Amino acid sequence: MKLMSSEEIRRKFLEFFEKRGHKIIPSASLVPENDVTTLFTGSGMQPLLPYLLGKTHLLGKRLANSQKCFRAEDIEEVGDNRHTTFFEMLGNWSLGDYFKKEQLPWIFEFLTEEIGLNPEKIYVTVFAGDKKNGIPRDEESVKIWKELFKEKGIDAKDIKLLTVKRGGEVGMQGGRIFYYDSSKNWWSRVGVPEKMPAREPGGPDSEIFYEFTNVPHDKKFGEHCHPNCDCGRFFEIGNSVFMEYVKNDKGGFDKLEQKNVDFGGGLERIAAASNDDADIFHIDVFGKMRGALLKAGADLSKKENERRVRIILDHIRASVFLVGDGVLPSNRDQGYMLRRLVRRSIVHAHIMKMPDFWLKALVDSVVDSYRGAYGEIFSKEKEIVAVLSEEHERFNKTLSKGLEEFKKLQRIGAKEAFNLHQTYGFPFELTRELVKESGGDVDEKGFEEAFRKHQEISRAGREKKFGGHGLILDTGELKAANEEELKKVTRLHTATHMLQQALRDVLGPEVKQAGSDITVERTRFDFSFPRKLTPEEIKAVENKVNEKIKENLPMQKVVLPKAEAEKTGALYFFSAKGGSASGGKEKYPDPVNVYFIGKDLKGAWSKEFCGGPHVSRTGEIGKFKIAKEEAVGSGVRRIRGIVEP
Ligand code: SER
Repeated sequence: MKLMSSEEIRRKFLEFFEKRGHKIIPSASLVPENDVTTLFTGSGMQPLLPYLLGKTHLLGKRLANSQKCFRAEDIEEVGDNRHTTFFEMLGNWSLGDYFKKEQLPWIFEFLTEEIGLNPEKIYVTVFAGDKKNGIPRDEESVKIWKELFKEKGIDAKDIKLLTVKRGGEVGMQGGRIFYYDSSKNWWSRVGVPEKMPAREPGGPDSEIFYEFTNVPHDKKFGEHCHPNCDCGRFFEIGNSVFMEYVKNDKGGFDKLEQKNVDFGGGLERIAAASNDDADIFHIDVFGKMRGALLKAGADLSKKENERRVRIILDHIRASVFLVGDGVLPSNRDQGYMLRRLVRRSIVHAHIMKMPDFWLKALVDSVVDSYRGAYGEIFSKEKEIVAVLSEEHERFNKTLSKGLEEFKKLQRIGAKEAFNLHQTYGFPFELTRELVKESGGDVDEKGFEEAFRKHQEISRAGREKKFGGHGLILDTGELKAANEEELKKVTRLHTATHMLQQALRDVLGPEVKQAGSDITVERTRFDFSFPRKLTPEEIKAVENKVNEKIKENLPMQKVVLPKAEAEKTGALYFFSAKGGSASGGKEKYPDPVNVYFIGKDLKGAWSKEFCGGPHVSRTGEIGKFKIAKEEAVGSGVRRIRGIVEP
């Protein structure tokens, strides 16, 4: 086994594919440039989507890179042996060029010959097929894998259909190649075939796992271990997506015009495998950064501090890259996430009683580790330090104020802890630590209860005024100040539902909401659609809405259990924010309100999950006009509409 630095692995990967005809492209920004559906670049394929769909890439059909990725949904997992919010994804692409029989041998050669991984410790998974959607199982990949393992003297047995649950029951069964269902071996930006909107590309994939034989299986995750078990013995280190399908307007699947390969492999995990050490925080880059933190006073003699150090290492590394890509701390979108990362790190550093200079010391170390590969953070180092230090100072003030209040209190129970949090922005975690130091304990459950209640009350207040989705919640801002304004906003809100249905009537069911924002002046509606609308189409949509306004149809509401509501075919806002696993409907409550336009739910012209408010009859809206139609990203259009009395 060769011990390898991250730098070396990255370089070897790019050289390997360069030798095989690939052009090396730079990493795209962590903030997607032409995609409003997601806040962060979370995989290498996102920035390349247009090319996977057929657009010609200036550099040709074979590309490779190391892409900066950020996955906010993993934030709570950070601290274990393998999760980080920021990571680097090594990628190689065939844009309608080579396919399985080149990809699998190459990537196997790279991992076993270039990185030197022991093939005995490598296991692979393949797609078991999806009868409902008419997609066959991937026997071709199995054949190729068998050959590849045979060349290494390994007789690779394939194991028929597994799900994560079944895997836990039956275990490895002496297998080397495992078929899993679409929840594991199908890749699209939004997950399984059912979740994909029309025109979204996807395909079966073949994942590569490395087994850390010194990590014992943890039965908490199932009786037996298997490659997709979450106990931490197996790491997924690479994924070859065979992107050859696209969802059609009828909900079925067509072949894409070109067969693509999208390979992505987590650099940090490959480095951990090359160390044969199942802890990515032990790889070289984290080692250096940890050194900087220790020097700045992190006390690792206390066991509970290990998790804190990992969180700080991850969060500050991510923050450096985010600021490097132009994100500034704020209370919205990417800026909010950055603020959360920095403040969370500060709280942990504070608990460990580290002197303030830790932040700069760590930032310097991050920049130093990545200066070669990501020049932008090197050239912007001063700015990055300034932005993060300013946030540090600002938050320190909050902490000091909270601390003063804390000292005034005689007794700290759940209520006091909640007040400190609510009024002074003083983090609960810190309150708990301080109370612990004086030998006490705070009622965590009580705090959570108070927190939940508060959230419910403020949500209910907001819903009453502005509706459960779209209207205001997309921006979080409050735009109606009085009854009169509220009335106007309500008319626009109902008109927005009608606009979505009219768009679907005219353009087809691939139209899906990608965002909305309503002010007293106008509604702004973003939706998925691949091209500019013609003037005739715009007119037809406008006419359709006005026709339904003239019919003076009732707007009605039913409250249904979510599962039932879905069966009615009601639309819900689909958001891919935050990455693959977060579909849209999870954000609606259960039971959910379904608003429909028409006499009864069954024959309703428009149906949507929504919190209201709405007019009671469409006639109240007046006249609807489309003021503007434009692009806001690849595959996303924006319409601004107004209503007149
Ligand atoms: N798109 C795939 C993934 O993110 C492979 O690059 O896993």
